Amino acid sequence: MDKYVVHHADSLSGSVSVSGSKNAALPILAAVLLTQEPCTITNLPPLSDVKSMLCLLQEAGLAYQYDETKETLQTNGWKCNFDLSQSQAAGKLRASFLVAGALLGTCKEAVLPMPGGCPIGSRPIDLHLKGFRKLGAKVDVSGGIVTLRAKELKGTAIYLDFPSVGATENILLAAVSAKGKTVLENAAAEPEIVDLVRFLRKMGAHISGEGTATITIEGKSALCGAVHQIMPDRIEAGTLLIAGAITGGDILIKGASVEDLGPVIAKLRECNVKIEEAAEGIHLTRKGRLRPVDLKTMPHPGFPTDLQAPFMSLLAVAKGTSVVTETVFENRFLHVGELRRMGADIRIDSRSAVVEGVEEMKGAKVEATDLRAGAALMLAALAAKGDTEIGDLGHIRRGYDHLEEKLCQLGAKIEKTEE
Ligand code: UD1
Repeated sequence: MDKYVVHHADSLSGSVSVSGSKNAALPILAAVLLTQEPCTITNLPPLSDVKSMLCLLQEAGLAYQYDETKETLQTNGWKCNFDLSQSQAAGKLRASFLVAGALLGTCKEAVLPMPGGCPIGSRPIDLHLKGFRKLGAKVDVSGGIVTLRAKELKGTAIYLDFPSVGATENILLAAVSAKGKTVLENAAAEPEIVDLVRFLRKMGAHISGEGTATITIEGKSALCGAVHQIMPDRIEAGTLLIAGAITGGDILIKGASVEDLGPVIAKLRECNVKIEEAAEGIHLTRKGRLRPVDLKTMPHPGFPTDLQAPFMSLLAVAKGTSVVTETVFENRFLHVGELRRMGADIRIDSRSAVVEGVEEMKGAKVEATDLRAGAALMLAALAAKGDTEIGDLGHIRRGYDHLEEKLCQLGAKIEKTEE
């Protein structure tokens, strides 16, 4: 198994560019199944989740070329294979289920295994299925396989009990091909959904209200090919900003958008970190000791759950007590045990973690239990005294594009070893 050995880093400095967003790329890749015409997707990073999604699309019969160096995908039509029940790729990522909406829209049928993903909670798909049923699909779930069939999809009013990102995307992907108007209430408003709608609109879809809680979709019988550049990854940008903050650095994150990172920037400022909008991105400096803050994860525009673990590493070395409350996923404190191994003083009380900042953490042998927990450990390791060995790197590679290389570009010393 591959491991990183991360050495203590004093004040990261310099500049680094943000890659294309994983969470925007995955639904956009599902959307290419909505047309037989060629599509070109650029700024598509070669993450392992992206590659798993491309394998799934190949299993669905999509013809494509993916140039990893140029980070560009060119699609060339597809054979309508809607039965993906035997797919190996589908089990590797939860977002595999996003092809369900697109397949249902174009083939009126989809057969898929229940989705996999990080072990951060039970992650049901009831809201996706509720939306499909409302659009007129018959849904059967048995033996770990989901079968969806519809004679015709019909536009309707759908209320989501929770603004689920995946359910909003899946319903959008199905509703663009439905007959008539769909009004989706309590929809998720994440920037990645806005990027998906930008792509669907270029394909000819009629959609309004993206980025708000009510999205209206006028169905169309056929969509066309389109060219699209994936938006910058706000979670990667946030992770790199925290790397600058935890090391007391002076860094420029090129391509990072202040608009997409509002709550993260607000919390960093409360922690005594200076953030300025620059022409090319976001400039961060930190001189004094980090101050503690309380934070609660929430759907957008609240604090993103994907940055909860990385931010906790920062709070672990702040001067005082912080309370971090996770409201989106029920099991997203897997990093706490590993941070404790490094000397952090954190106790979990139900859905909150009480973080008593320590003067410094110490290097230890730790495991990346999930994607964002892995990033949190990389950040903690930069601040820790001595060397930290982080195992199970597969999780980090699922969603970060060469994170270790980008940190090294800012002056970190990280080695990769193979066992
Ligand atoms: C997406 C992101 C993930 C991020 C999450 C929340 C992608 C590929 N992944 O995941 O990085 O952490 O949004 O911002 O974009 N839920 C239900 N029923 C459902 C669907 C969801 O109860 O049918 C619950 C989940 O269990 C979870 C919460 O809703 O507790 C949020 O999930 P959701 O917004 O759907 O996240 P994902 O789309 O899986």
